[in-house]
Amino acid sequence: MRRSQIIGFGSYLPKKIVTNDDLAKKLNTSDDWIRQRTGIEQRHIAADDELTSDIATNAARTALKDAGLEADAVDLIILATATPDNTFPATATRVQSNLGVRRGAAFDVQAVCAGYVYALAMADNMIRLSQAETAVVIGAEVFSRILDWDDRGTCVLFGDGAGACVLRGAEVGGTNADTGILSTHIHSDGDYYDMLYVDGGPSTTGASGYLRMEGKEVFRHAVQRMSEVVTAALDHNDLSVDQLDWLIPHQANKRIMDSIAKKLTLPDDKIVVTVDRQANTSAATIPLALAEARTDGRLQPGQLVALTALGGGFAWGSALLRL
Ligand code: ACO
Repeated sequence: MRRSQIIGFGSYLPKKIVTNDDLAKKLNTSDDWIRQRTGIEQRHIAADDELTSDIATNAARTALKDAGLEADAVDLIILATATPDNTFPATATRVQSNLGVRRGAAFDVQAVCAGYVYALAMADNMIRLSQAETAVVIGAEVFSRILDWDDRGTCVLFGDGAGACVLRGAEVGGTNADTGILSTHIHSDGDYYDMLYVDGGPSTTGASGYLRMEGKEVFRHAVQRMSEVVTAALDHNDLSVDQLDWLIPHQANKRIMDSIAKKLTLPDDKIVVTVDRQANTSAATIPLALAEARTDGRLQPGQLVALTALGGGFAWGSALLRL
């Protein structure tokens, strides 16, 4: 059987750090309120001349280095982003050029915070079908550009950043029969379009607009849907929650993650958390958390890892991996 193996992890965070206290100097908010409600302490913000393609390229380069591969090995680039450089072409094609990749396909996936799980699902399916051999799957966002910095209910929640993984197709069987991406599940429900959206775009206002959100509804659906889709992934593979080594949920809010842990009856110390230092970087949170946990030695070969995310649409999903 052919499966996608994850053979490299990479990340990039812009240098500039903005703390809750920094925000409290400009907005009617406080470090205490933001920490209590979200677990966020600080976020990274891209420099004015730093584009999504720049930070995506940096993350992709570190992932390729980690995999020990040169650009010429790559035949697929999928970039999950809701903050592309331009309306078109796909920002992934700019990354392809930056990396010096000269073959295969490069395209963007738009599923907002669920984008990375969607992108992994597409890359995995293409690899399983031998349509691609070596994929770089990136999540990169500069949400700071689509925030209304006068809206304290949204602007305190987000940050900028990029993460990437390198996937390679391999025949599995015998002792390595259950390694790689075991399954992916993706869903959406457009009836919730107006719960989380940007109030602009080429076919509406012509301008790019700002993020708007019904926070409580998003919270409720995030807990429900992410818990359900992790359970579906485990059931699909005849595995149980106590066999999970790590859960890497989309990093929107520490309270959302705590509620998911409670619903799944998963101990808190099996959840990788970065939201305190990075806030919500949308499609980038999962690959950033994967890269961090790989670098600090938490992720080890043979471990079972579940990824899950929910974002605007609503769109949500999960991926189950054996490292
Ligand atoms: N600082 C201080 N006060 C604030 C702030 C702030 N930054 N933001 C809102 N408030 C005030 C409100 O104005 C309100 O004041 P009022 O009672 O005088 O009217 C009060 O705090 C409570 O506001 P709520 O919106 O009811 O606060 P809630 O407890 O729901 O928390 C939050 C808001 C943190 C946004 C929460 O709803 C949440 O985390 N939702 C999930 C949203 C999310 O993570 N979205 C990310 C994108 S989607 C995703 O990634 C899954």
